[in-house]
Amino acid sequence: PTIHVITPTYSRPVQKAELTRLANTFLHVPNLHWILVEDSQRRTPLVTRLLHETGLNYTHLNVETPRNYKLRGDARDPRIPRGTMQRNLALRWLRETFSLNSSQPGIVYFGDDDNTYSLELFEENFIPNVATQILGQNQAGKVGGSPAHSPGKGRRVLMQFNSLCGGLPQQSIAKCARMRSTRKVSVWPVAFVGGLRYESPKVNAAGKVYGWKTVFDPHRPFAIDMAGFAVNLRLILFKPQAYFKLRGVKGGYQESSLLRELVTLNDLEPKAANCTKILVWHTRTEKPVLVNEGKKGFTDPNVEI
Ligand code: UGA
Ligand code: MN
Repeated sequence: PTIHVITPTYSRPVQKAELTRLANTFLHVPNLHWILVEDSQRRTPLVTRLLHETGLNYTHLNVETPRNYKLRGDARDPRIPRGTMQRNLALRWLRETFSLNSSQPGIVYFGDDDNTYSLELFEENFIPNVATQILGQNQAGKVGGSPAHSPGKGRRVLMQFNSLCGGLPQQSIAKCARMRSTRKVSVWPVAFVGGLRYESPKVNAAGKVYGWKTVFDPHRPFAIDMAGFAVNLRLILFKPQAYFKLRGVKGGYQESSLLRELVTLNDLEPKAANCTKILVWHTRTEKPVLVNEGKKGFTDPNVEI
């Protein structure tokens, strides 16, 4: 299946650096489609060029979040959650582009631009890449080519493979497959969220998710960060009304607002070695201090950063 990564993004000094880091990761992942949605009135030249130059398979969309959005006569925080309108536009694009009966298999993942993603999150892709590299073969299609002709190398591939899969025997490949094997919704831990080293789904001995190891409101229906789950495209198409709620969503409830339309706790498929591995980090690049630019700007504004 194709992995459709949905990334909302907005203009700021670190934007290009963030998108460059993401592109460099995604370039290692075969069969990935990047849906980049700018929070802007139009698609910007910076992002347009960057996408074009990466050589990635992508779709470039835009929708601006109204900045001065106010709920009339309502004292509550009128803030629209960050990236929500952009993710919803991407969901609509998927539904307009693919249909249930004719659709190619796909997985949908919400990958914010301030995170760091391990290639292991995409697993199946990483293996052929490692194999390709080690066997010295360039065409992806030839990776299956028998390592029997070069037993030493073959063993190395297998060792790499096993270490990636947490030492599982080779026949357990399916068990260690990451988001690409998602049937409905798969879940895993995310580092540096909710005031913890990491937040994680709680998984029992039978491999079922039964709750959430979080401090911040563990009683949310799905106490999980945006970067901690993936959804099968078929499910997105099968539930055409399922979107992220824009209004009246308390902090931390955005993910739940979509997931509760799609699945129940019992449906969740834990990945990342039963949620024991950290494969995504909410790194959040530090905002650069640009005080010496002054009011007029010191450096050449024509140089893109
Ligand atoms: C946290 C969560 O990790 C987000 O998934 C969630 O959308 C957000 O809270 C929320 O509920 O508002 P946080 O680090 O606070 O994230 O937000 P950002 O990472 O700054 O924004 C999330 C995504 O939206 C990013 O990809 C960012 O580039 C994008 N964004 C942010 C916009 O498109 N427009 C904005 O004005 C701000
Ligand atoms: Mn973030």
